[in-house]
Amino acid sequence: MSLTAQLPTGEIVDLWSYGTPNDASADIREVTFEKAQQDLRHYMHAAHAMIYARDDTVLWDKYNVTANILMQMRFDGNLGFAGGLLDHGSESAVEGLNRELEEEINLDLKKYPLSQEDHICTHVNDKKKLVMHFYAKEMKKTEFLEIERNALGAKEWGVESLGIIRVPLYMVEDKTRGFPLFLANQFAGSAREQLLIAICKRKILTKEQLNYFIDCYRKHVGLNST
Ligand code: GTP
Ligand code: MN
Repeated sequence: MSLTAQLPTGEIVDLWSYGTPNDASADIREVTFEKAQQDLRHYMHAAHAMIYARDDTVLWDKYNVTANILMQMRFDGNLGFAGGLLDHGSESAVEGLNRELEEEINLDLKKYPLSQEDHICTHVNDKKKLVMHFYAKEMKKTEFLEIERNALGAKEWGVESLGIIRVPLYMVEDKTRGFPLFLANQFAGSAREQLLIAICKRKILTKEQLNYFIDCYRKHVGLNST
């Protein structure tokens, strides 16, 4: 982990300020992967991934687990996905992503390599000159459990990653606790948006369910509903 990085232009940027509470959603826009590759080559690029498994378990006869989604508590107190900055020029997004997944969650790359087909979306923060590529890979539940257990052996365990967590995708009767309250956490970069987009694109929740949860989250944090 370094606190500064040099852009291909020679400019030094302060990585420490990435994903801080000052990052506003308004600073982040979505672009295509190709456009980011062509037009934003001079920015820093990062790639993160959502590993998940569908799960039909019902908790306490009440709440549908629906899916287990793996996220992590980062060293800086933000929640995020496993992944990280790409080595400029020397590796593709997928190569860098796989390298970071091995370092951060000890992912067995022989069994579970991610590929460009797993790409979900790309965001850019122009203020930070940071491009954030995002991937998602569905696993069987048995594979997910194995990946989760193996994460304790990662090189970055206890350093960059302070623990992997699962995302609660249900809501309790007060219409706050569960997924809405989870969304009220502090997230790194565009991780909250990435989570919502992947849940929608992979049809883990329906658009109606997702919108309802987002409305409850917005009410909880005092934002007007959409
Ligand atoms: P370093 O060793 O510090 O380079 O860490 P790293 O290579 O693991 O990079 P990191 O995962 O910290 O990602 C780089 C930047 O991307 C961070 O400074 C965050 O602002 C942002 N970031 C971190 N996690 C996520 C995430 O899950 N989603 C998104 N969109 N951005 C993230
Ligand atoms: Mn990282």
